[in-house]
Amino acid sequence: MSWKRTHPCGVLNGDLVGHKVTLNGWVNRRRDHGGVVFIDLRDRSGLVQIVFSPEVLTAEQYTIAEGLRGEYVVAVTGKVQRRPEGQNNPGLATGEIEVYIESISVLAEAKTPPFPIDKQVDVDESVRLKYRYLDLRRKELQQALIIRHKVVHQVRNFLETKGFLDIETPILTKSTPEGARDYIVPSRIHSEQFYALPQSPQIYKQLLMLAGFERYYQIARCFRDEDLRADRQPEFTQIDLEMSFVEPDDVMELMEEMVLAVFKEHSNKTVTEPILRMTYQEAMSRYGSDRPDMRFGLELVDLSDILKACTFKVFASVLADGGVIRGINVKGCGTSFSRREIDQLVEKVTEYGAKGLVWFNIGETIKSPVAKFLSEEELQSIVQTLEGEVGDLLVVVADKQDVVCDALGRLRLFLGEKLGLMDERALKFLWVTDWPLLLYDEDEGRYVAAHHPFTAPNDQDLGLLETNPAQVRAKAYDLVLNGVELGGGSIRIFERSVQESMFKALGFTMEQAYEKFGFFLEAFDYGAPPHGGIAFGLDRIIMMLTGVKSIRDVIAFPKTASAIDLMVNAPSEVSAKQLRELHIQVKG
Ligand code: AMO
Ligand code: AMP
Repeated sequence: MSWKRTHPCGVLNGDLVGHKVTLNGWVNRRRDHGGVVFIDLRDRSGLVQIVFSPEVLTAEQYTIAEGLRGEYVVAVTGKVQRRPEGQNNPGLATGEIEVYIESISVLAEAKTPPFPIDKQVDVDESVRLKYRYLDLRRKELQQALIIRHKVVHQVRNFLETKGFLDIETPILTKSTPEGARDYIVPSRIHSEQFYALPQSPQIYKQLLMLAGFERYYQIARCFRDEDLRADRQPEFTQIDLEMSFVEPDDVMELMEEMVLAVFKEHSNKTVTEPILRMTYQEAMSRYGSDRPDMRFGLELVDLSDILKACTFKVFASVLADGGVIRGINVKGCGTSFSRREIDQLVEKVTEYGAKGLVWFNIGETIKSPVAKFLSEEELQSIVQTLEGEVGDLLVVVADKQDVVCDALGRLRLFLGEKLGLMDERALKFLWVTDWPLLLYDEDEGRYVAAHHPFTAPNDQDLGLLETNPAQVRAKAYDLVLNGVELGGGSIRIFERSVQESMFKALGFTMEQAYEKFGFFLEAFDYGAPPHGGIAFGLDRIIMMLTGVKSIRDVIAFPKTASAIDLMVNAPSEVSAKQLRELHIQVKG
């Protein structure tokens, strides 16, 4: 008998009743009923119920059927029949039919898998990752990877119609500063020399613009040795692109078209359009975050002005030191929160780095641990500014601006989640624009690039680069979705002198800058077009589309939170010979 399939399992339906079909797949689940064996047969397309009856099969074939176990690979031939009255399974695409098997061959037997494939049970993730090829048989992971494929396909088509060229850039390269640690690869031929794996194709894509390709894209693998979180992997994939002769609006408008098309095609959630835009400054002051979740309010409101003359020592000393006081009106929660819940908010902000939290519970009177330190007018103006009403809880933090933004920004997210304000059905996109070019890094004692060193300053701020670097805004934009940074990009510096000033602002000497980036700086002298671009985290886009919480659930072969591939067991030791060839001595 030929075992070549005639149909995928998942497509069979009532139209095929009476047809003979040959199916290939895995035994998903088996049930025995009154001398008849029922099996859900699984292939990539889905499940179908197949039936083995001693009335149809030879004794020998029926014995084979009786011996089938989960995950055996089989080929079967049989006739499609409508299920008996009342036996339809509306939960299954093929639920109105079943296939009465006339012949079967077992293509491969299978051991009992270390966890069930056919149902969702709690299994330690390390076991799943060790047997990733089995975990990948599960429906959720199959669907995530199929959506991932479809998104890439759609993006490629979109960019193709817009005149982008797919050009590969090297993996063995020199470090590109994107802010993370590099993965480095020792050279055998050049003793004591190392390649770096790219943190992104940034420099190469800019050089492609200098080379005259005008529109480039790549589905690019990037490598970053950084502390991992739920939405980070050491190697991940970007939808990376670059365009010549553009301004921020050109990039944002084109990308808006692409991203909205992708989300409308693959998500049944509500997409709000057009995409809102907000400056970084506004995002920080209203939401305490550079990637605000726009699905709910609970905005931060400034109280510094109205409390200028306040004598309460916590507020007065913060204002005297140039700090700020901001608050959030937690609507209705004055009545509904217990004292323990309010205390928990105080604990939270302390955890987030603030020194404390002042709260005001608006009942018939205003209850607050600090009410006695404030005048009646001050209390009233706090309530008014925060638009407080009876039943509301007002929470206030005073500190340096960064600390207040961060603590209240995170408290806002905590409250949004606790109060169920994050509408699971909504997709709220936001462009955050006009980023600062540089941020001061307290640990390093110098300015670092808010994005990367090739981002162009706003023309009107150029003069501030040497005198007041913190005030320089950048032609940079991030795309945020429901509080997650999906992508970021900018218009680039395309003049050598500006790039030199940027390196200087970052604390490089000119010798250091030329030693590292001489090839790049020199390239500007040969006719560089103005250019800009963006990169999206493909993995994060798929996470948002599928709603999974872990980035590992959208990557075929991911690494653990400690950057280990448990299946192939990497990283691992290498032989003494390999080390010798690489001129490497490992300290014991
Ligand atoms: P950036 O560093 O902002 O920009 O990266 C762009 C996007 O890549 C995703 N991303 C990650 N995804 C998973 N795991 C990680 N470790 C990780 N790190 C980043 C995020 C992020 O928004 N060269 C610039 C882009 C440009 O300027 O054109 C760059 O790499 O979704
Ligand atoms: P203390 O004077 O430290 O006992 O604080 C008095 C009250 O002010 C307590 O309720 C603290 O939680 C609160 N508090 C202290 N520091 C701050 C701050 N920086 N911002 C807001 N509230 C604070």
